[in-house]
Amino acid sequence: MYSEKVMDHFRNPRNVGEIPDADGVGEVGNPKCGDIMKMYLKIEDDIIVDVKFKTFGCGSAIASSSMATEMIKGKSINDAMKISNKAVAEALDGLPPVKMHCSVLAEQAIKSALLDYSKKNNVHIDGLEDFD
Ligand code: FES
Ligand code: FES
Repeated sequence: MYSEKVMDHFRNPRNVGEIPDADGVGEVGNPKCGDIMKMYLKIEDDIIVDVKFKTFGCGSAIASSSMATEMIKGKSINDAMKISNKAVAEALDGLPPVKMHCSVLAEQAIKSALLDYSKKNNVHIDGLEDFD
């Protein structure tokens, strides 16, 4: 049912934790299941130099957040903004259809953290206006 990559990221999630002096922090909840994901971003010159997450949720949510952090680390804030839940799920070699909403949580956590950063620093990030 679950790909090797999902199992790997669930068992050994990357970038778990907090960044105390994060430049952007996002927290989102999934209304369908009550799971919560928190994401911390460290940003220098518009590049995400560090990212950590904490997820209180199912295995797919943990695997999705782990993969999402790997995908945005080192990317510009504008490129991170373009990462969709489908891209996260594809990078995990797929999720079962009933678990696709777990990857939505990862996409939203990134956007929520970027939104926090853009508000605090008065920085424009393309596409973020739709999320706010
Ligand atoms: Fe969240 Fe499954 S409903 S753990
Ligand atoms: Fe809730 Fe996965 S079942 S995020």
